[in-house]
Amino acid sequence: TEKPTALIMIFGATGDLAKRKLFPSLYRLYKRGKLSDRYAIIGVARRELTNDAFQKSVKTSIQAAIKDCDDLDSFVSHFYYHSHDVTDSSSYLSLKTMANDLDQHYQLDGNRIFYLAMAPEFFGTIAEHLKSDGLTEVSGFKRLVIEKPFGHDLESAKELNNQLRQAFSEDEVYRIDHYLGKEMVQNIEVIRFANAIFEPLWNNRYISNIQITSSEVLGVEERGRYYETSGALRDMVQNHMLQMVALLAMEPPIRLNTEEIRAEKVKVFRAMNMLEGEAVKENFVRGQYGRGTVDGVDVPAYREEQMVNPESNTETFVAGKLSIDTFRWKGVPFYIRTGKKMAAKSTKIVIQFKDIPMNLYYQTEKTLNPNLLVIHIQPEEGITLYLNAQKAGENVETTPVKLNFANSGIDGNTPEAYERLLYDCMRGDATNFTHWDEVSLSWSFVDKISEVWENTKAENFPNYEAGSMGPRKADELLEKDGFFWWPVDHLKYK
Ligand code: BG6
Repeated sequence: TEKPTALIMIFGATGDLAKRKLFPSLYRLYKRGKLSDRYAIIGVARRELTNDAFQKSVKTSIQAAIKDCDDLDSFVSHFYYHSHDVTDSSSYLSLKTMANDLDQHYQLDGNRIFYLAMAPEFFGTIAEHLKSDGLTEVSGFKRLVIEKPFGHDLESAKELNNQLRQAFSEDEVYRIDHYLGKEMVQNIEVIRFANAIFEPLWNNRYISNIQITSSEVLGVEERGRYYETSGALRDMVQNHMLQMVALLAMEPPIRLNTEEIRAEKVKVFRAMNMLEGEAVKENFVRGQYGRGTVDGVDVPAYREEQMVNPESNTETFVAGKLSIDTFRWKGVPFYIRTGKKMAAKSTKIVIQFKDIPMNLYYQTEKTLNPNLLVIHIQPEEGITLYLNAQKAGENVETTPVKLNFANSGIDGNTPEAYERLLYDCMRGDATNFTHWDEVSLSWSFVDKISEVWENTKAENFPNYEAGSMGPRKADELLEKDGFFWWPVDHLKYK
């Protein structure tokens, strides 16, 4: 296949995301031979910097992320810097001149990618200027890559979308959800649609419930200001968690192309049972961490973090029960939970199958373990299938056994999410980016919950200890239904 050629403009080039993810990912694409020799990158940011100084800082950030890098000088020689005021037309005009020159110099076929890796309040302004100042008049393709948050609620997301759409069509907008770039998130569809043994069981006749946990050890670090206006619901549920639900619940697409896959995902969002008022309180639990111990170190409460209101009502943890009202899923709860300062950094999906119709093995209260399929998203990558087998040497004692598949990613060699997503964008494959229909529907769902939470003060915050698995209420959510969160251990087992 032809290697993609483009001029990439990264707005926010001196920021954290550019340094930690984008530059190292571009370098890896380059090293793996995925980039054509015809590429150029313009770093765009407010501060004054020479090209030299910028190239140096790109080098430093790549070295910080990747051991043993060679060829760095020739790689960064394609990097340029533009000091920029996002509200000033003259800035855009000089950026345009620079872009046109580079386009000529490197023969970039007029292809342009605008990557907005910066504070969301400027997304709309930038898109409008790109158009009015002529940067989007190109002979090749133009694409806009946009980081989250995509709005704060449905209203603001709509407003932002309208601004972007003045300059870019829906097909040209690449909304990042970096979970969709993760190896094992992409694997969900392969597990489902490439195996005869799962898809026939993938419904309410055989699955009893699905549990998705994404726990973090880190707190809000330096992001207190943003997080105070966001909270776990907007930060993790509206995007990453609901995207995983959609991939697990969608119908098989008729073809593996962007339109077909998105159409099936959108249907899941449309079938999601909207919760309102009391139903929110019954099905969603919010938490905020208090002081505790993480990895043997005493840590402060959320309310004691930098830039956080000492009486903050912001949730750092969410657990919820979702219902998807379709023939396939009616009656199967999808439980989700995510939070900061929890016991482990781990994202996992547990699919619990229904009990077999009759237990031949135990006449007493002892039951058979249900079959579980666990998809390990991170940090381990793999799949575990839990079955029952006969215990060696005993007559009819059963024992759970595990079938394990560990993805080679465990040694850290799989491309990172951003590498994959950048490459997809350069090739024009939008499958693993979120369509406006998904974004708007997930905001409608989440807005109902925030509405209830914003109107009622959380009485018992902080309600979980840092270093734990969240508030007790999150366990009760499953206990009410006769389930519990499976404490599935990590993939490494004896
Ligand atoms: C981001 C959130 O979208 O995802 C962060 O804004 C969160 O708060 C992060 O820490 C988690 O991503 P990952 O890839 O580390 O699981």
